Amino acid sequence: MSTQFDVVVIGAGPGGYIAAIRAAQLGLSVACIDAWQNGQGGPAPGGTCTNVGCIPSKALLQSSEHYDQVNHHFAEHGIEVKGVSLNVEQLLGRKNSVVKQNNDGILYLFKKNKITFFHGKGAFTGKVESGWAINVTGTTTADIVGKHVVIATGSSARELPGLPFDEQQVLSNDGALNISAVPKKLGVIGAGVIGLEMGSVWRRLGAEVTVLEAIPEFLAALDQQVAKEAFKIFTKQGLAIQTGIKLGEIKVGAKSIVVPYTDAAGAEQKLVVDKLIVSIGRVPYTGGLQADTVGLQLDARGFVVVDGDCKTNLPNVWAVGDVVRGPMLAHKAEEEGVAVAERIGGQHGHVNFNTIPWVIYTSPEISWVGQNEQELKASGRAYKAGSFPFLANGRARALGDTTGFVKILADAVTDEVLGVHIIGPMASELIAEAVTIMEFKGAAEDIARICHAHPTLSESMKEAALAVDKRTLNF
Ligand code: FAD
Ligand code: NAI
Repeated sequence: MSTQFDVVVIGAGPGGYIAAIRAAQLGLSVACIDAWQNGQGGPAPGGTCTNVGCIPSKALLQSSEHYDQVNHHFAEHGIEVKGVSLNVEQLLGRKNSVVKQNNDGILYLFKKNKITFFHGKGAFTGKVESGWAINVTGTTTADIVGKHVVIATGSSARELPGLPFDEQQVLSNDGALNISAVPKKLGVIGAGVIGLEMGSVWRRLGAEVTVLEAIPEFLAALDQQVAKEAFKIFTKQGLAIQTGIKLGEIKVGAKSIVVPYTDAAGAEQKLVVDKLIVSIGRVPYTGGLQADTVGLQLDARGFVVVDGDCKTNLPNVWAVGDVVRGPMLAHKAEEEGVAVAERIGGQHGHVNFNTIPWVIYTSPEISWVGQNEQELKASGRAYKAGSFPFLANGRARALGDTTGFVKILADAVTDEVLGVHIIGPMASELIAEAVTIMEFKGAAEDIARICHAHPTLSESMKEAALAVDKRTLNF
């Protein structure tokens, strides 16, 4: 006899666990299945984001930033610290405890919302009259039926052909978050989000980091004014970044890894490193789901095919997050999870893809939302641009971090904000105002007329909005 649920969610990453909570809030009976195991074999809900992604990477970025500050910036404040040393075991231990707090928090939320949690792998076994039959194997074994099923199985790191991750020398994001001693030389393949964040962590902790990127432009998807500024700053910090390279055959030896490559000028080069992070993007994960048992449609790259409402080709089967098209971001997965739960509950869920913010948590941070200058030029839309440097912001000066700027792009006629691009201190927090304004289809003038507290970094948003109309007050 199978247990029947209104909704069965497979995967408890940000897409899945949030979908489960929202469905439960709407009065539906909900089960959530997740296979992730902690070091003791117990449940560790939260997916990639909580276990080997957003949360642990930000924990390490914070710790390494403190180390960098104490070594290089405290003296400016008159704080003299002698005998600074690094305890990597403690640093990783703190990161692990931050992860565990998040795992435990999700288990608590499941209980609070009366969601039945199954720790194990969920697989489709067929269609029955009352819905989709799912088999759970793992810590729990069960046969359950969901009238609706939400697939939220996420993604995994992409390997270079012929170079499997061993997580000792050749590292995915998982290994990159768990290096037990600072390597002398660290190589990173791919100057994307993971490459720059994890490269920054280990550089701050003392590794000599070289980042090799195939595409000639650095951070090609970003507004190029921001990308150029970022390249200049990261290079000055000591990240050796080479773009436009072509990898040769990488050889993993007992103690080192040899990475031959052709550089942008066509010269043959050789990089020898102790460890190599491969961060060349992620691939959707549907392993173990037995998608073909029920005829679930995947595209050529392995993504579950969905329409604009996250409906798959199977009735009452939905998919959200990294396993479907769109940016691989935790907040995008969450928004889709909420929208799908609301659609199942008879409401009108909605995700606005035009206002999904991006953040790169380097130092300085980079954030953006909407269109960039090269996209607006290519589309032929007439626009106005306004920028404001943190150098002219009082709070940034007091903080001792005046790198970067805020740039606002607005329609030339209506003044509607079309894109906001920030590089500088707390860019991750500042972008929220831009997202709000864009959600309300607001104008640059709206930001300019809002009273911003003084002295705050957010005044740079106001000043950049004033700059759109060429009337900054402090620059
Ligand atoms: P996931 O989080 O991958 O969760 C999927 C879950 O499903 C996993 O727990 C998996 O074990 C489980 N599962 C899979 N198959 C089955 C099955 N058959 N049965 C049961 N369970 C199954 N995004 C941000 O927005 N901000 C960041 O700062 C950020 N930092 C990141 C840093 C790193 C190093 C990485 C790798 C990613 C980062 N991301 C970040 C991306 C973010 O982690 C993902 O976009 C997000 O986790 C996707 O959520 P999801 O729910 O779709 O899938
Ligand atoms: P990415 O797509 O951000 O960057 C991958 C980079 O590798 C690209 O620049 C690409 O051109 C390059 N590349 C691909 N093949 C290559 C090759 N053979 N040789 C050299 N370079 C090559 O992917 P990344 O960094 O792996 O991260 C995956 C995803 O995880 C991100 O796209 C993002 O969605 C998510 N993420 C989000 C974070 C955040 O929001 N702060 C942090 C980390 C990850």
